[in-house]
Amino acid sequence: MKGNFPVEKFRTLETPFYYYDVDVLRKTLNIVKSEAEKYNFHLHYATKANTNPRILSIIREYGLGVDCVSGGEIKAALKAGFSRDKIVFAGVGKADWEINLGLDNDIFCFNAESVEELQVINELAWHKGKIASIALRINPEVNAHTHRHITTGLQENKFGINLSQLEEVLDLLPTLSNLKLIGIHFHIGSQITDLTSFKALCARFNDIQELLFRRHIILKHLNFGGGFGIDYEHPNHNAIPDFKSYFEIFHKHIKLQAGQQVHFEPGRSIVGQCGSLVSKVLYVKEGTSKKFVILDAGFTELIRPVLYSAYHKIENITSDETLETYDVVGPICESSDCFAKARDLNRTKRGDLYAIRSAGAYGEVMASQYNCRKLPEAYFSDLI
Ligand code: LLP
Repeated sequence: MKGNFPVEKFRTLETPFYYYDVDVLRKTLNIVKSEAEKYNFHLHYATKANTNPRILSIIREYGLGVDCVSGGEIKAALKAGFSRDKIVFAGVGKADWEINLGLDNDIFCFNAESVEELQVINELAWHKGKIASIALRINPEVNAHTHRHITTGLQENKFGINLSQLEEVLDLLPTLSNLKLIGIHFHIGSQITDLTSFKALCARFNDIQELLFRRHIILKHLNFGGGFGIDYEHPNHNAIPDFKSYFEIFHKHIKLQAGQQVHFEPGRSIVGQCGSLVSKVLYVKEGTSKKFVILDAGFTELIRPVLYSAYHKIENITSDETLETYDVVGPICESSDCFAKARDLNRTKRGDLYAIRSAGAYGEVMASQYNCRKLPEAYFSDLI
C-alpha cells in the first residue's frame, strides 16, 4: 500500500519539496492531546523536529507549549504565537544572548545542564533584576536502546547533570539567589520504540524523588522529555504512534506527590509521519552489478539515512509496474549520498516521482545548502 498523494498536482511543482499531510498532523495532535489529558499531562512540542512556520502554527492551535533549544527556536515559537509562559528552554550550550532572550520573555523554565550554566543564568538574571525558573536536567543513566547518535541519557553523553553531582548542585542552589528551582528534567534519547526504557526512567525518577525528599525538596514540575519513536516501516498502516501505551507507562510507574505536574516534550512522534520528501527521478543508471535510481533530492534535503543509517520507506508514486531492485541515491558529489540500498521498487524511469516517507521530523529542519543547492519548498495537503 502506498501513501495518498495528489500526483497530478505534484507534476506541476518544482522538485524536490516537502509535502505535509495536514490531516495526519491534526489527527496525531487530537490523539496525543486527548491521551495526555486523561492524566493531566502537559505537552511541550520539541520545535527542533520541525520549525516550518505553518507546522508550528497548526500545533499552537492545539494549545501545546514548546521545548526550544536555541534563541532562534524561541523566536520562531514566539512568532508562531506560542505563549511565553509555555516555553521551556533546554540545551547543553546556551549562549548569553539566548539566556537573555529567555529572561526578557519571562519564559516558563530553563532546563539547566551544568553547574557553570546555573551560575551564568543566575548572574544574567541578577543583572536584569529577575528570578529565573530552573529545572535541573539530570542525566539518569538509563539506556534508551536506540541509535548511538541519538541516545542522550548515558554517563558518556554530554547532556545533563550526572547523578553523582546532584547533591553538590543542590548544595549550591541556595547560594544562587536569582534562581528558583521548580522542576527536574530528563530526556534519554530519540526514536525509542521499546517502552521498557521509559519504565526504567520512571524507576530512576522515583529514586531521585526519594533523594530529594530526604532533603525536604518537592519539585512541582517533572519533565520526562521526548523520544517516543514512530513506525518508519509502516507509515501508511501505522501513522499515529500509540500514545495511549506511552502515557500509561508513566502514569503507572511514577510516584507522584500532590500538586506535582508531569510534562513531556514530544517532537518526532507529533510531526514525523505527516511529512514526505518528494523527488523526481533524474536517471536510472545500470551499474555492473546493480541499478541506481538517481534522484534530484540528496542528503542536503534529508540527511537522516546518511547520518544515522536511518530507514525511510520509499515509494515510486507514479509507477505500478513490477518490482525491481535499486540503490536509491542523490545527486550530491559524495558516495555517502545514498537513501537506500537494494530496495524493491516499482520499475522506474526518468521523470518518475518518488516519495520518501516519515520525513516530517528532522527532515526539512536539517536541510543544508551544500553544493550551493536551494533549500526545499514545503507544500501542505489543504493548500495545494
Ligand atoms: N527534548 C529534548 C531535550 C531533546 O533533546 C529532544 C530531541 C526532544 C525533546 C525531542 O525528541 P523526539 O520526541 O523528537 O524524539 N536528528 C535526530 C534526532 C535528534 C533528537 C534530539 N533531541 C534524528 O533525525 O533522528
